[in-house]
Amino acid sequence: MKIVHLPSDLHDVPRPLAFVPTMGALHEGHLELVRQARKKGQTVVVSVFVNPTQFGPNEDFTRYPRNLERDAALAESAGADIVYAPSVETMYPRGVMTKVVVPEVTEWYEGSHRPGHFDGVATVVLKLFNQVRPDVALFGRKDLQQCAVIRRMVEDLDLQVALEFVPTFREADGLAMSSRNVYLSPEERATAPRLHAALTALARDIKEGGDPASLLIQARMELADAGFDYDYLDLVSSRRFAPLTNVEEGAAIVIAARLGKTRLIDNVEI
Ligand code: PAJ
Repeated sequence: MKIVHLPSDLHDVPRPLAFVPTMGALHEGHLELVRQARKKGQTVVVSVFVNPTQFGPNEDFTRYPRNLERDAALAESAGADIVYAPSVETMYPRGVMTKVVVPEVTEWYEGSHRPGHFDGVATVVLKLFNQVRPDVALFGRKDLQQCAVIRRMVEDLDLQVALEFVPTFREADGLAMSSRNVYLSPEERATAPRLHAALTALARDIKEGGDPASLLIQARMELADAGFDYDYLDLVSSRRFAPLTNVEEGAAIVIAARLGKTRLIDNVEI
């Protein structure tokens, strides 16, 4: 396994090349993507880059956990051949840069609660695609709206890369694995699984014919009582990422909620 820092280090690797972009602080969720990538490619490249342009001014860019040695060892254990860890200067050599703005699927949810976030994500992912030139790239459904954004960018810009969206990897108690879970206090960690429990209960009740609007209102109140300060909890189309009033193919329930200072997101597809 090699750790490299420049795009030129990635030329002439055996193909097909399967690519897993990450911001590091790797956990089992990321490693599941790497294991799936191992099945798809001759060469598996994992990028580790904490991308400054996708963080808002009051978000956790500076305190985001960073440990390249540990990440590289974990990536290797899951089957990675190369860890690509570019510097901020390599990715953004000029102050003002061309950026990718994906329409429609970025209007709601993470798009409206984190202004500019998806411009940062789409731009860095396109840059990484151009540097790594993957045949297939893998993303987690944990960030379901991000999947919709990447899919739309690939379609709109005719990018020659196959996409794979991998199911969310969870702790035994249902909490979606996330690099941000380390911010939770022991008490918050004990409360956090209620998020996924609420989503699965909602999905079940809606599937059994319950009225989505009233079930959502009730679930929002219950989560607020449990100590969650939610940004949104809604029934959406996972392709268009706009609200739905009734279940249709590709429907999902999405949530973002703060527990103390930690912002958690999760979703279940119906
Ligand atoms: P990051 O949050 O590090 O996540 C990297 C990839 O791992 C994403 O595709 C994410 O959806 C996936 N992932 C995270 N937790 C997961 C879980 N519990 N189960 C399955 N997959 C999971 O997402 C980003 O980084 C960045 O926005 C990035 C795409 C790298 C661009 O900077």
